Amino acid sequence: MSVTRRTFLRHTLAFGPVAMTFWMDVEYALAQGGPQCTLPTPAQPQRFIPNEPRVLTRFSAAEMADPSRAAQLQQFRNAIGLVRNLPSSNVISWTKQIAQHCLNCAPSNPTNIHYSWLFLPWHRGLLYFLERILRTQSRNDDLRLVYWDWESPQSRTLPSIYAPSGQPLYWRNRRLTGQNWPLANDDVDVQPLLAVPSFDVFGGTATQRQPVPASFSGPHATVHNAFAPGDMADLQYSPRDPVFYAHHGNIDRLWSSWVNAGHSNPDFGDARVYFYDENRQWRYVLMNDLRDESQLGYQYSSLMQPSVPVARLQALALQGTRARFGLSPEARAVTTRAEGPQYLVIQNMQNLDQLPATTIRYGIFAGQPPVGTPSTAVRGFLGKAARVASSSHNHVAPLSVTLNVTGKLSALVTDNQGVLELTVAPLDAAGKTTGRGIPLVADSITLIG
Ligand code: C2O
Repeated sequence: MSVTRRTFLRHTLAFGPVAMTFWMDVEYALAQGGPQCTLPTPAQPQRFIPNEPRVLTRFSAAEMADPSRAAQLQQFRNAIGLVRNLPSSNVISWTKQIAQHCLNCAPSNPTNIHYSWLFLPWHRGLLYFLERILRTQSRNDDLRLVYWDWESPQSRTLPSIYAPSGQPLYWRNRRLTGQNWPLANDDVDVQPLLAVPSFDVFGGTATQRQPVPASFSGPHATVHNAFAPGDMADLQYSPRDPVFYAHHGNIDRLWSSWVNAGHSNPDFGDARVYFYDENRQWRYVLMNDLRDESQLGYQYSSLMQPSVPVARLQALALQGTRARFGLSPEARAVTTRAEGPQYLVIQNMQNLDQLPATTIRYGIFAGQPPVGTPSTAVRGFLGKAARVASSSHNHVAPLSVTLNVTGKLSALVTDNQGVLELTVAPLDAAGKTTGRGIPLVADSITLIG
């Protein structure tokens, strides 16, 4: 059954305000006019409890390119090809993978999957059900998704297995012409993220934008944006490109790595995510059932490792929420230590809507940077954050950001009697400031070191 005006009326009569939300999504889908943003959602989903009998390894795209894995790569490509060839009306087709994401990222959707604790579990669920669909379509129970380990210095461009045309991992609207390749170290630095002590900041909470997950605005956003102006750089429709699933494989691996580093997942209570399973049944999964990937039948061939055990790091709050942030004597002592690391965790930069609406990259500076200057040439440059644009609507949410400021703070703080005066300035793709900075306003800033 697909959604029609008649079913809308029925739902409205039956459920009132709930249906209004539902209708706004449907209306949006109709306005988009495409099957890539339309999905029938039966009223009674069945619970799905993941309980995979075997744990198999997801390999990196680089490992899959090794000649010794040629047969495995061929099977993976063929399976993606089978799903890409399903008719778009089939609820498990490639088109409907795109549609699930599109609907969950619609401007009218009050539960956008990118700005709350849905972010990590929802994308994990998308990948998990796609993996199950690939396995049944290809009749190969050993099949697993791959991940793109962009944090590794050898993997800073599009993985080679995705590149050739005429095979299922190719995508025609993929642009590699921007100035972002190869990805720079600080674009894909996972170290400060691995050190974030609480899931609330790393992965968000039940409430939208309180805060926006830090795992959204760093390498996650930067890798999407590197593909501008191709589909990957359009948040809502990025799953059109097969490399999306390898990128999110690595975001999923970042989550696994964060837990493995010694942090804890929250109790998600009865929070749920919804997907079609490989038998085309509409299902819900408790987010609590998605916390342990071994229950989902996979592990990663390697995990990201923190440079220093996280148990050795302390978190010290800075004083202030607007422009001027004071460091306690204890925090100042951390900045002067010779050995690192030192990270800043900025929770919810709030006033980004005061910058030009086209801004997607934000430079964070101590002091006011000159306009038109490469950020790396500015003494007070502390790091970057990014959002991901969407062609059909604008997402200017607050952003949380983690910065690797090892060795950078001591002199700045001494200059200014223990106070950091922070600004946020718009950056272009090359990292140059394109306008004046505004005072940085945030819910909180923590120094970790
Ligand atoms: Cu749902 Cu990386 O996007």
